[in-house]
Amino acid sequence: MASPSTCTILFFLFSPFLFFFGAAARPSFACALGGPAAGLPFCRVDHPIKSRVKDLLGRLTRAEKVRLLVNNAAGVPRLGINGYEWWSEALHGVSNTGPGVHFGGEFPGATSFPQVITSAASFNASLWELIGQAVSDETRAMYNGGQAGLTVWSPNVNVFRDPRWGRGQETPGEDPKMAAKYAAAYVQGLQQPYDGKHGRTKLKLAACCKHYTAYDLDNWKGVSKQDLEDTFNVPFKACVTEGNAASVMCSYNQVNGVPMCADPNLLRGTIRGQWRLDGYIVSDCDSVDVFYNSQHYTATPEDAVAATLKAGLDLDCGPFLAQFTESAVDKGKVTDADIDAALTNTLTVQMRLGMYDGDPTTQPFGNLGPRDVCSPAHQGLALEAARQGMVLLKNRHKALPLSPSSHRTVAVIGPHSDATVAMIGNYAGVPCRYTSPLEGIGSYAKTVHQKGCMDMACHGDQPIGPAVDAARTADAAIVVVGLDQSIEAEQRDREDLLLPGRQQELVSKVALASKGPVVLVVMSGGPVDISFAENDPRVSAIIWAGYPGQAGGAAIADAIFGAYNPGGKLPMTWYPQDYLRKVPMTDMNMRANPSKGYPGRTYRFYTGPVIYPFGHGLSYTKFSQSLAHAPTQLSVPLDGQKLVSVNSTKPARTKWAVRVTHAKCDGLHIPVHVDVKNDGNQDGTHIVMIFSNPPTGHSAPVKQLLGFEKVHVSAGDQVRVEMEVDVCKDLSFADSNGVRRIPIGEHSLRIGELTHTVSVVAEQTRL
Ligand SMILES: *[C@@H]1O[C@H](CO)[C@@H](O)[C@H](O)[C@H]1NC(C)=O
Ligand SMILES: *[C@@H]1O[C@H](CO)[C@@H](O)[C@H](O)[C@H]1NC(C)=O
Repeated sequence: MASPSTCTILFFLFSPFLFFFGAAARPSFACALGGPAAGLPFCRVDHPIKSRVKDLLGRLTRAEKVRLLVNNAAGVPRLGINGYEWWSEALHGVSNTGPGVHFGGEFPGATSFPQVITSAASFNASLWELIGQAVSDETRAMYNGGQAGLTVWSPNVNVFRDPRWGRGQETPGEDPKMAAKYAAAYVQGLQQPYDGKHGRTKLKLAACCKHYTAYDLDNWKGVSKQDLEDTFNVPFKACVTEGNAASVMCSYNQVNGVPMCADPNLLRGTIRGQWRLDGYIVSDCDSVDVFYNSQHYTATPEDAVAATLKAGLDLDCGPFLAQFTESAVDKGKVTDADIDAALTNTLTVQMRLGMYDGDPTTQPFGNLGPRDVCSPAHQGLALEAARQGMVLLKNRHKALPLSPSSHRTVAVIGPHSDATVAMIGNYAGVPCRYTSPLEGIGSYAKTVHQKGCMDMACHGDQPIGPAVDAARTADAAIVVVGLDQSIEAEQRDREDLLLPGRQQELVSKVALASKGPVVLVVMSGGPVDISFAENDPRVSAIIWAGYPGQAGGAAIADAIFGAYNPGGKLPMTWYPQDYLRKVPMTDMNMRANPSKGYPGRTYRFYTGPVIYPFGHGLSYTKFSQSLAHAPTQLSVPLDGQKLVSVNSTKPARTKWAVRVTHAKCDGLHIPVHVDVKNDGNQDGTHIVMIFSNPPTGHSAPVKQLLGFEKVHVSAGDQVRVEMEVDVCKDLSFADSNGVRRIPIGEHSLRIGELTHTVSVVAEQTRL
C-alpha cells in the first residue's frame, strides 16, 4: 500500500508548486488557494469552527467518513484533503515511536529532554511547562517541514503503582497530586492555546493524556471505586480540566470486566460528562481489535464497532473501525449520526490546529523551521532539566562535590560509564547529540575508563578486574550502573529490584580497592534496591540520575564536581527487594490490607521499611524551615446539606465527613507560609512539600502530598514561600463508594520536621 507521504512526494515532483516553494517543498495542504475546496465554507477562517465542521461533514460520503475514523486517515482528494497520520509522540522531545514522525533531511534530530521520571524529580512545574513549549516548537517546525503531525499522544500520566513496571520511567511518579500538576503543566506547554475567535481556542499542538485508566497490566480485575477516584483518575482529571488537553486515550485493559474503550460510564460519563473534554477520545493501538479478537467482549466485529462508538470513542488507533463501520451501519448496529458525532470531535481538533486554514507558512507558527529544532536554547534547557533532575541520595562526610584540583585523575567505571542512547529512555527520538558521563567527567578531570560490565545484564565473564585496578590508582572513582531498556521497558517488567547480574559485585569491589572517594551513579527509570551501597561506608556518595536525556553526562559531572548543587527529590518510593514478596504485581489495591498481609502501595499507604522514601534528596547546603503562617481552624461551609456519618472499622476520633459536592468549595483554601533558610555556605534549591496526616478512619491515606513549591535560596538567605492548600481537592479522599469526602477533625500538616494541626469543622448554613 502506498503511504500518504509517497503520494505527496509524487504530487510535488509534478506540481507547479515546486517552482514557488523550491526544493524544500512541504506537503500540500487542505484549503489551498486555487485548490478544489477554495472558498467552500469549511475553509473559511472567518466562520465559526462548529459550522465549518458541519459543512465539511455534509460533503463527505459514508465511505469517506469511515476512513477518517482511524489513525491512518485517508485523504479525500476531490476536496483537496490529504491523508493524515494522527499518531505522533512527544513524551520528552519529538519522538519517532509513532508513524507520524520522520527524522532525516532538514530534521536529522530533535532535542531529547530527560525521561519524564527524571524531569519529575525537579518538582518544578515551570520547568515542565517550558519543556512542553520547546517540544511544541520543535514538533510544529517538523510539521511545517512535513515530518511530524500536530496530534501527539503524550503525556503518559498513569500513576507509577508498582516499582517493577517497565513503563514507570514514562510517568511523573507515584503521587497522584504531583502527576496531576505535571500533566497540567506539560500539556499547557505543548498546546499553547491562543486566539479564541468565536469562543474557540486554537491550538499549537494537541496533547493526549494516556492511558485512561488504571493501566499497567493486560488483564486484571478489582480496581476499587475508591482507588479510581483518589489515585488512578486524579492525573487524568487534571490533564483535562486544568491542562485542557485536546485528547484522552483509553487503554486496552479492562476495568472490572469492561474494556476501557467500550465503557460508556468512563468515556461519555466521566471524561466528557464530568470533565467536559473539549477534544477527541482515541483508543490505544489495536484496543478495539483486542477486545473483539482477544478478549471476545462482543460476538461480532460490528458489535465491537457499536460498543466503542456508543461508549464515546472518536478515533481508532488501528484499522478496525475503517474495516467494519460500514457493515455495522448496514446491520443497524450504529447510525450515521454515531459516525458524525465521532468525526465532529476529531475534525474540530484539526480545525483548532489550523489544518483547514490554508497555507501553514502564513499562519501562526508558520515561521518555525529547522533552525528552531535543536536550537542552542532548547539544548540548554535539556541540560538544565537534567541538572534539576539529579537526586543526591547519599553524601557521607561531604565527600561530594569532588574538587578538580585534588581529584585530578578519576576512574570512570561501569556499564553506563559511556552511556548515550540509554540516557534517553523510551518514547524518545533521535537526539541532537549526546554528552556521555565519560565525556562530562572528562571536562573536569583526567579520566581512566574501564566498563567493568560490558552490558547491563552483566552476567558471566566480565572485566571487573581491570576496573578494580583503575580505581586503585585514581584519585577518585565514579561508578555508573543501573538499568536500560533491555531490563525495564514497555512489555518488560522487572522481576526484582536489584542491580542486574554482577553490577553490585563490581561496585563493592571497586569501593574496596579505591584509594579515593567512590561515587555511585544509578541510571534507571524505576527504583533499585541499592541498600548494599547505602550501607557500605566505602561508597561515599550516591546520585540517582534517572534517564537524564541527551545532555545527561554533563549534568552528572556538573553535580559531582559542584558546578551545580543538586536539588532533585525522588518522585517514587525506593522499596527493598523484600517488599515484592508481599505484593503481587496484579494486585491493584493501593490501600494496605493487614489481615491479608498486604502492605499497600506508595508512600500514601505503605508504612514498611524503604531504602529511600518518596521526596528524599540531599543538597550540598543545609536548609531549615519554619512556619510563618497557617490557620489552626477551618470551617467548611455546607451547601444546605447535612453532615453524614461514615462508618469506620477503626475507633476514629471522628467519623464525620463532608461530601465534597455538598461543600461550598469556591475559594476554600488554607494559606500556608513557610520560611526557608539556607544555613550552609552554598546557594541551592529547596523543595517545600506539605503533607497531611488526615484524621484516622475512613481508610484514609496515612500521608498525602497537598502541595509543593521549589525555591532558590542563596547561602545565608531566607525566603518566604506562600502556598495555598485547596481544601476540597487536597484534604479530601474517596470513601469505599468512590465518593470524595473531607473528613472533619484534626488534619496534621507536615512540612519536613514541622507539624501543624488544622482543625476542620463543618459550618451549617441556614437555608
Ligand atoms: C452505619 O452503620 C449503622 C449500623 O450498622 C447503619 O445503620 C448505618 O446506615 C451506617 N451508616 C452509613 C453512612 O453507612
Ligand atoms: C524552575 O525551572 C526553571 C526553568 O529551568 C528555572 O528558570 C527556575 O529557576 C526553576 N526554579 C527553581 C526554584 O529552581
